[in-house]
Amino acid sequence: MSPLTIGKYTVPYPLIQGGMGVRVSAARLAGNVAKCGGVGLIATAGLVLNSPYKDKHNYFEADAMALKEELRKAYEIAPDGVIGTNCMVAVTNYDDVVRASCEGGAKILVTGAGLPLTLPGLTADYPDVALVPIVSSVRAARLIARKWSKSYNRLPDAVVVEDPDTAGGHLGEKMENIGTGEYDQYATVREVKAYFRDEWDLDIPIIAAGGVWDRADLEYALANGADAVQMASRFVCTEECDADAAFKQAYLDCTKEDIGLIMSPAGLPGRALKGNLDKIRAHDIDGKVSCPSACLKKCSYRKSKDCFCIVHALDRSQQGDRETGLIFCGTNAWKSDKIETVADIFAELFD
Ligand SMILES: Cc1cc2nc3c(=O)[nH]c(=O)nc-3n(C[C@H](O)[C@H](O)[C@H](O)COP(=O)(O)O)c2cc1C
Repeated sequence: MSPLTIGKYTVPYPLIQGGMGVRVSAARLAGNVAKCGGVGLIATAGLVLNSPYKDKHNYFEADAMALKEELRKAYEIAPDGVIGTNCMVAVTNYDDVVRASCEGGAKILVTGAGLPLTLPGLTADYPDVALVPIVSSVRAARLIARKWSKSYNRLPDAVVVEDPDTAGGHLGEKMENIGTGEYDQYATVREVKAYFRDEWDLDIPIIAAGGVWDRADLEYALANGADAVQMASRFVCTEECDADAAFKQAYLDCTKEDIGLIMSPAGLPGRALKGNLDKIRAHDIDGKVSCPSACLKKCSYRKSKDCFCIVHALDRSQQGDRETGLIFCGTNAWKSDKIETVADIFAELFD
């Protein structure tokens, strides 16, 4: 297996740990993945909620402060590691989060939940920061490449191709198209690879995300056109994962049938443990959760109060509330059967 080079940065192993919000992948997980020789990503979404800055500053200022603090702590764990952030285009303070990531020393920015059409402009003062969009289709990759080339004379340093049929969290595909059997993850990986090679004469890493659990999956991904993989759910049941033990226990306890699709108030489908959705809704709709910040550009909870506040629901689960917290997970989460260390996973995948 070859090392992975993204922009100016090289890690020994072809693995990115996927960003997991809220605070499921923060300093500890990202730092330890980087220490073991992969790319560690801090998910930026909602970091403010469980931070000491929350009540002392404006919500968005505090969010940026919390993010820089996580980057600082991650570099304490892996001073020479390749640590980046996952930024969601759908959040209101996306521009600020991107800037704070650069100022805090993120080496790689991976962006999801929307098309990052303005990203090179936002990072113009930090040309060494590698830019990696997440897409689920060659169409999205083409839109991004054309816009970046025309407006900023820049192209992505790598692309993550995320499979809506297996990945956890928010998904970049319409609900009705998920699980139909029509989506071909590795055909899309190869199409995106060919697109950059043929149209731009560019050989960038194309990284497969979704459904990669063990060494056989990794080998399959590499044999089928991916240059590397992005793995998220597998890292939840590690000692270093930043979520509460109860969150990890939910993974250990779940079965295949517990994992399903939800409609997020952000207007995107998401994959999660679906058993407690009624309780999440009841908790939020009964008036216990107001909208303190308008943290999403579009949010059906803010608009009509008919579902739940996604950022608070994710924050509650991260802090151990299995009853009214939302637990995002990929289709493989049921395979979790023990708490291991990040180093154990690297040993299994790469030894
Ligand atoms: C708990 C959890 C939270 C996630 N949060 C985010 C997020 O904040 N931003 C994002 O772009 N992707 C998010 N994802 C998606 C992952 O980064 C990753 O691409 C995907 O889950 C890969 O599939 P796997 O979980 O089967 O490895 C999340 C996934 C999980 C399981």
